[in-house]
Amino acid sequence: MYIPVLQCVALILISISYTQSCCAPSVVQGTAMAYGFVSEGKTAYQNMQKFYYDEEEEKVARVTTDMMGQTVRDIFDFSAKKRYVITNGTVCNVTDLKEPFQKSCVPPSAVFMGSTVLGNTYDNRKVDNYHLNITQGPVSIESAFMITPMEGGDCTVVGAVSFGKDQSGYQFSETSIYMNFSFEIKDKSVFQPPKQCNEPDNSGTLLFEVLSGFRRYGF
Ligand SMILES: *[C@@H]1O[C@H](CO)[C@@H](O)[C@H](O)[C@H]1NC(C)=O
Ligand SMILES: *[C@@H]1O[C@H](CO)[C@@H](O)[C@H](O)[C@H]1NC(C)=O
Ligand SMILES: *[C@@H]1O[C@H](CO)[C@@H](O)[C@H](O)[C@H]1NC(C)=O
Ligand SMILES: *[C@@H]1O[C@H](CO)[C@@H](O)[C@H](O)[C@H]1NC(C)=O
Repeated sequence: MYIPVLQCVALILISISYTQSCCAPSVVQGTAMAYGFVSEGKTAYQNMQKFYYDEEEEKVARVTTDMMGQTVRDIFDFSAKKRYVITNGTVCNVTDLKEPFQKSCVPPSAVFMGSTVLGNTYDNRKVDNYHLNITQGPVSIESAFMITPMEGGDCTVVGAVSFGKDQSGYQFSETSIYMNFSFEIKDKSVFQPPKQCNEPDNSGTLLFEVLSGFRRYGF
């Protein structure tokens, strides 16, 4: 079976609902660098992802590059209850989104492990460390992540290390670092699916290669 590696960490950040801990500001964009290893095939990978999060519009988007070097844009439009995966700017896969929008927060099940100062003390970047175990179907993931508090009670994630496995022995690990946060989205067209997403026949034209690309990114 295939586990969506990069998504696991992002999931912690975007889809577990909040009760008490801090949450991301209502509008965020930034970049995540992920470095991972998949036991199956002993593959190491490195991936850069740009992410966009808008709580008011209930939209989340991620832009990354798949293994064939094609750009993959993944739009979650919770207000329209649709998810669009656009590969290479040309191929669009539209699916229904059943779950409601959830704020991006430190999940209440995360265990606080204490605070530290990242790097040297010159900039005095305080981070809070958490551990979190999550289970998604057959997959269990153990992760440690760091967040940095902001004025006003919000926070943003700094980095995460995750280790996942399923019952069949499939394992992966991933380290991700988050950077270049900005608290406005200047170009909201990132949430706008291209016109071919509205053409019902489009998914029929997928090439085998494109399909294998999706497998890496689908849930
Ligand atoms: C990717 O897009 C380019 C044009 O933008 C096109 O020529 C190429 O065939 C596309 N590749 C795939 C695999 O669809
Ligand atoms: C997560 O699971 C591991 C291994 O089962 C355990 O050692 C650890 O204490 C758990 N951590 C949390 C925060 O539940
Ligand atoms: C981060 O921001 C800096 C300054 O705006 C820019 O030069 C750099 O390319 C950005 N890096 C990434 C990975 O987005
Ligand atoms: C579209 O995406 C869904 C969910 O990721 C996936 O199950 C389905 O196979 C995809 N359809 C095509 C034609 O790739």
